[in-house]
This record gives sequence, structure tokens and C-alpha cells, in this order.
Amino acid sequence: MDFEPFQYMRYAKRLEYADGIFMAGSGMSPPKPELLTFDPDDFSLTSLCSNYGDPRNVAWLAEKYKCGGERIVLSAGSSSANWLVYACQLSPGDKVIIETPGYPQFFSLASLVGAEVLKLPRKAENGFLPDVDQLKSMLDDSVRMVVLTNLHNPSMAFMPRPLMQQIVDACAKVGALVLVDEVYIDHMKPGDDYSAFELGDNVAVTSSLTKVYGLSGLRFGWSAAPERLASRMLDLIDVVDPELPTVAQNLAHRALENLPRLRAHARRLHEQNWPVVREWLDTRPELAPFNPPGGITVWFDLKGIDETGNLATVCRNDYGVLVVPGEYFQSGGWLRVGYKIEPVTLRQGLERLGRAIDDFRSHH
Ligand SMILES: Cc1ncc(COP(=O)(O)O)c(C=O)c1O
Repeated sequence: MDFEPFQYMRYAKRLEYADGIFMAGSGMSPPKPELLTFDPDDFSLTSLCSNYGDPRNVAWLAEKYKCGGERIVLSAGSSSANWLVYACQLSPGDKVIIETPGYPQFFSLASLVGAEVLKLPRKAENGFLPDVDQLKSMLDDSVRMVVLTNLHNPSMAFMPRPLMQQIVDACAKVGALVLVDEVYIDHMKPGDDYSAFELGDNVAVTSSLTKVYGLSGLRFGWSAAPERLASRMLDLIDVVDPELPTVAQNLAHRALENLPRLRAHARRLHEQNWPVVREWLDTRPELAPFNPPGGITVWFDLKGIDETGNLATVCRNDYGVLVVPGEYFQSGGWLRVGYKIEPVTLRQGLERLGRAIDDFRSHH
């Protein structure tokens, strides 16, 4: 079996253990355990967990998405949920349209199932929103799926509901599924967000507690999907990974019960740290940033520099600051910089990054 390796994942894993100010992550740090009110029984290895995950968690998600539990599939993070959707929706030779810049897992998954990729641009000059007319011109009966993120990784752009509705309707006309990875959507203020799942019967969404909630260690993810697709995903789960870890399911149950408090925490961090980043960006007019409506990462163009892989190495080796080069998101010349760290270190990290950019520019 041949497939495109997920280079960014390798890079990100290595960086988490590297020296330097860590500004490469897109996930919150784990919450303090007292925020989650764990019970000693939660750690019991014999606790209740139906084979497809804790029924309390399925019920919680069914209520969230206003659907029956048969449309909810629990998985090991949204990565695994994305894989299940791809594997059950696509066959070799099918076409899949993937937003670009886009999370590289989507491209690797396409290669894994032998699907042909068509790239849907999300351009800076358009606020990183896709052009619906362009999408329509790409759609035909051979396109089986369109893949989007909301919020968009890497820019964190928010896709307005009417635009998403137009996309879902256009895809419905040719029988294509819309997969929306919503792992960052809870960075929006409650009430400003929505789930694409409610926009049509041809939508599957994926998400997890990894990013906004800092609970990557639980590997608690899910998909809400059309019923036939969800049922097929359960068939695949039986084949490849038939049970979910009970302890993680119990702990995730506590997290779900406390979600509003954890969500507010992520929003506060954005509101506290974004002005620090903005202030730094204002001193550097040569950078062209996208102002994220929420989240803990900023995506910017280093006008005049068109490859950033080497710049990221200079940042790390010579200046002790860790950032993500745009090449991992099909965008040489861009950087994704995380700002979840506390403000004093954040200022220090940005200052180091600025010096690294100046140094790099002086040699190019
Ligand atoms: C769009 C997107 N989906 C999924 C993931 C992975 O999430 P999880 O830890 O839930 O598998 C990431 C991680 O960066 C991501 O950016």
C-alpha cells in the first residue's frame, strides 16, 4: 500500500520535545484536573463502556447535533474520525476536493484510499474563504467528497453559515458529501458558531477534545454523519480497532459535563494574547497576517521570502523559537505561529522570531 506520509505530523511531534519557546502547537495546554471533577471510579478498568464508546458520550453528542445516536461515531481523535469518513466514503479513482491551504492529513488520506485530489483554493485576498462559483465549476458526478475545516487551519478563518449552506447545497446536487472538520470551531464565542451538520443530509462533521479543550491525551474524537455512512464507519471500526479505552471515555464524560467552563478558558486566552501578537505584527509591516476571529495561532505571509522551511530551522537552531513553516500547508513563504503561552514568554518568543526573520532576510 502506497501513501503520502504525513510529514507535518512527524515535524510537530519532534518539536514538542525540542528545546526552545514552543510556538508551533495548535492545541491548548491540558486543563487543571480540578476543572474536570474526576471521580476515582472513572479510573476503573471494569467501568461501563459499550463497545462503540460510552453511551453517555454518544447521548451527549446526539443532543449536541440534534440527531439520533446512530449518526454518532466515536473515534480516537478527529484524525481517526477523518480517516473513517474517507475510508467509508471514497473508493480508488473517486475525486475528492480539498481546501488549499489545508491540513495535510486530508491529502495523505486521499492517497491512502487512492482518490484523486482536486484543490479548492482558499485565498488570502478573499479572507481565506472559498469561491463558491469556482467550487461549482469543479463539481460533477465523479466528485464524491469536498473537505473543509471550520475554523480553517491554518488561517483560522470562520466560514459564514450562508456560504457553507451554498457549498452544501451545491454538493447535494451532484451527490457529494461535505466533510467539515470542526475541531477549532469552539474557539468562536458561543452563539457566533454553528455546526455544518445541521445544513444538510450530505454533511459529515468531525471534531475532538484535543484542540480547544487541551485534552489530546484522551484521544476522544467523533463524527456526526449521515446514517448509512455512520453505520459503515462502525463496520470499519469492528475491523480495525474494535474498542475504545474505557478510562478515556469516562474522563471524556467529565470533560463534556464541564465543557462550557473549559471553552471560556480558551476564549480568554485568545483575548488576552492576541493583542500582544497584534502589537508585534504592527511593528512589522512587511508581514501580511490574517486576523483570526478566535484560536491560538496566527498565519502570515513573509512578503519577499518564498520558502520558510529553512527559516523555521534558523528560528529553532539559532534563536530558540519553534514555529511551523508554511510548506506543511502547501504555502512556502508563510508561517503559522502559536500564541498559547503566557504573555511574558510570548513577547520573548515574538522578539526572537523577529530577529530570526531579520537575520534570514539579510541573507536572501
Ligand atoms: C484540522 C485538524 N483536524 C484534526 C487534527 C488532529 O486532531 P486530533 O488530535 O483530534 O486527532 C488537527 C491537528 O492539528 C487539525 O488541525
